[in-house]
Amino acid sequence: MAEALVMAQGLTKEEKYKSLIPQIKSLLGNEPDMIANMANLSAALKQAFDFFWVGFYRVIGSELVLGPFQGPVACTRIRPGRGVCGTAWNEQKTLIVPDVDQFPGHIACNAASRSEIVIPVENKEGNVVGVLDIDSSTLNAFDETDARYLNEMLQILADV
Ligand code: SME
Repeated sequence: MAEALVMAQGLTKEEKYKSLIPQIKSLLGNEPDMIANMANLSAALKQAFDFFWVGFYRVIGSELVLGPFQGPVACTRIRPGRGVCGTAWNEQKTLIVPDVDQFPGHIACNAASRSEIVIPVENKEGNVVGVLDIDSSTLNAFDETDARYLNEMLQILADV
């Protein structure tokens, strides 16, 4: 496909995700480089949902290191168990945080971030190689719908 997203106006969140999935498949499908694909996936999510911050941290050595992202500048390194990202990495599970002020140890890269979702990223072999972190400037922005479709997109990322 041409490198442009098509997104109709007035769609619900779930309809937007449904419309994005096949576009993500073709955008990522012919590119084996995970960093290139993380970059385009961040851009696609930012464009479709206008999230405050969307991006990846990659496991490098014993830390998470900032990877491709869209949004304001962010912290570059996160240790295991630190913040939402380090906790999702440790526990290897999706974390939905409706109010970041209520999450003990939340790392405030930007004071405007109010809620977030963090999902571990696996490679083809099933090893966790990073996390996808999405921040919203409103409380309660994420739910199981986001978790489901974002996990589906990360499966596409892992499979190519
Ligand atoms: N808030 C995250 C840190 C990353 S930034 O929000 C981009 C956390 O607590 O892990």
